[in-house]
Amino acid sequence: MKGIAIAAAATALFASSASAAIDPIVIKGSKFFYKTNGTQFYMKGVAYQQGVNTNSSQTETLDYTDPLADTASCKRDIPILQQLNTNTIRVYALDPTKNHDTCMNALADAGIYVIADLSQPGESINRDDSSWTTTLYSRYTSVVDVMAKYDNTLGFFAGNEVSNAPNNTNASAFVKAAVRDMKAYIKSKNYRTIGVGYATNDDASIRENLADYFDCGNREDAIDFWGYNIYSWCGDSSFTKSGFDVRTKEFANFDVPVFFAEYGCNTPRPRKFTEVGALYGSQMTGVWSGGIVYMYFEEANEFGLVSIGSDSKVTKLPDFTALSSQIAKVTPSAVKMADYNPTNTAAASCPAINSEWAAKGTPLPPVANARACACMMDSLSCVVANSVDEKNYGDLFGTVCGYSSGKFCAGIQKNATTGAYGAYGMCNSTEQLAFALNQYALANPNGGCDFKGSAVTKQAVKTAASDCKALMSQAGSAGTGTVTAGPTGSGGAAASGTKSPGAGAALTVPTFETGLLQLGVYVFGATLSGMAMILL
Ligand SMILES: *[C@@H]1O[C@H](CO)[C@@H](O)[C@H](O)[C@H]1NC(C)=O
Ligand SMILES: *[C@@H]1O[C@H](CO)[C@@H](O)[C@H](O)[C@H]1NC(C)=O
Ligand SMILES: *[C@@H]1O[C@H](CO)[C@@H](O)[C@H](O)[C@H]1NC(C)=O
Ligand SMILES: *[C@@H]1O[C@H](CO)[C@@H](O)[C@H](O)[C@H]1NC(C)=O
Ligand SMILES: *[C@@H]1O[C@H](CO)[C@@H](O)[C@H](O)[C@H]1NC(C)=O
Ligand SMILES: *[C@@H]1O[C@H](CO)[C@@H](O)[C@H](O)[C@H]1NC(C)=O
Repeated sequence: MKGIAIAAAATALFASSASAAIDPIVIKGSKFFYKTNGTQFYMKGVAYQQGVNTNSSQTETLDYTDPLADTASCKRDIPILQQLNTNTIRVYALDPTKNHDTCMNALADAGIYVIADLSQPGESINRDDSSWTTTLYSRYTSVVDVMAKYDNTLGFFAGNEVSNAPNNTNASAFVKAAVRDMKAYIKSKNYRTIGVGYATNDDASIRENLADYFDCGNREDAIDFWGYNIYSWCGDSSFTKSGFDVRTKEFANFDVPVFFAEYGCNTPRPRKFTEVGALYGSQMTGVWSGGIVYMYFEEANEFGLVSIGSDSKVTKLPDFTALSSQIAKVTPSAVKMADYNPTNTAAASCPAINSEWAAKGTPLPPVANARACACMMDSLSCVVANSVDEKNYGDLFGTVCGYSSGKFCAGIQKNATTGAYGAYGMCNSTEQLAFALNQYALANPNGGCDFKGSAVTKQAVKTAASDCKALMSQAGSAGTGTVTAGPTGSGGAAASGTKSPGAGAALTVPTFETGLLQLGVYVFGATLSGMAMILL
């Protein structure tokens, strides 16, 4: 894999020689700094992505426009972003098959960094049917691969507002597995150290547990920074009325940087952005590293700073004017990296399992190791027939996992609350189903590989590849062991740009729902007009 690393390094050289150098941002303790001169970095951010097409009658394509691939719009908007002293944009869904050089270099020339979400609407962790799979791993690493070469890539979000109620907090286990795997991937590729974090919602019943959960335990598994989507300062509010005072106290001893990953309540409108003074003022700068205003483009949810006409012309809205005058007034006091000795270095404690919290601290879901799945597939003598439509996988899972108290599905089970994970629960749905059918067939040697023609026999590969032997022996014959080896080289499954109904879908033994559930739950900022999320 050395060849790939060298190619990436060469690309990086080329990219940086094509534009003015921009100093990468580094993390020390709970603060961000410019790497070279050690000046503290406060994020003055704007969310920058036009909405996705969530037209649920179009089941196969979930359109999104990659904002960093649209060169004309990017160049049009950079000078406007600069009028807001913007030094960071947040992008929610990138298309790794597109070229981002022109926009990223233009942003670098303007001193603007990018924080990118790794998912996209069709491939994200679904709060109602959560899993972390090789399909998602492949999507996430493909975004890391295209963004790691730019010095102005500030960080990645492994998820956005995935858990939003006590009854879906178990989904956070899979997001944390994604954080762990992306951190390991960045290391394994010898990329520049780029932080991986999470953007949380502000739900009173779970917000503290969420922060603790993602920060607890081994540092290799924990978030590098914490993004907070918060809409509790509405109109002429105040540090205390908005609850910003309590939030600030909650994070006073956090060991990694925290910032607002989205802010800007829009009731009433036009917005005054009086929270800007508080966020960059003395009551908050000791704890927070600034924030990202939601959002640049005016859309149906009415959070825009500008509107784009049919002629592509930009019109500044009153919110723009208000933000620009507020942000011009702030002068957050900065510490020098060399003078800063973090005192708050302890990780949080993992939250206890109770009625408000359903994700066990350890173990986390298995590493999404596509090689382990391929090895397992080689070993099977009974698999899903090619003729079976993915839409019918659910019924088959229901049948085979329903026998003998789920015994044949132990190797693909996932229970985030007890921490019981089968080794192959991170494989794609075809592979998981094949594993379960094969387990059944092994126990029923006389005609067990049938399922009305949905299962077919195949020749198992006689001698496992040498790397497979170790993986398979860790997983065990029932798949109930733990594979500790991570993916090597480029890791995940073949890059997949398309989304099919069963791909990446989780299965929860014994029920099964298809990935199409994701349509309704991919959250892009605040979803409803005027919906101020005051959850104090
Ligand atoms: C450090 O570098 C950044 C960006 O390169 C710049 O904005 C800042 O003013 C510099 N700090 C000092 C003290 O020169
Ligand atoms: C959704 O997609 C369908 C099929 O392409 C189209 O006919 C329909 O007009 C779309 N609806 C909306 C609200 O865009
Ligand atoms: C989870 O709780 C919310 C209320 O917080 C409720 O609306 C939703 O139906 C519940 N979901 C499930 C699967 O029980
Ligand atoms: C997880 O295990 C617990 C304890 O055995 C059980 O009560 C719960 O229903 C399981 N959850 C799922 C989703 O299977
Ligand atoms: C998470 O909790 C929900 C609601 O209790 C349950 O339906 C689902 O199966 C659980 N998933 C996992 C992976 O534990
Ligand atoms: C699962 O992976 C295998 C091997 O890479 C592939 O042939 C199959 O189409 C995948 N299935 C799904 C549902 O993505």
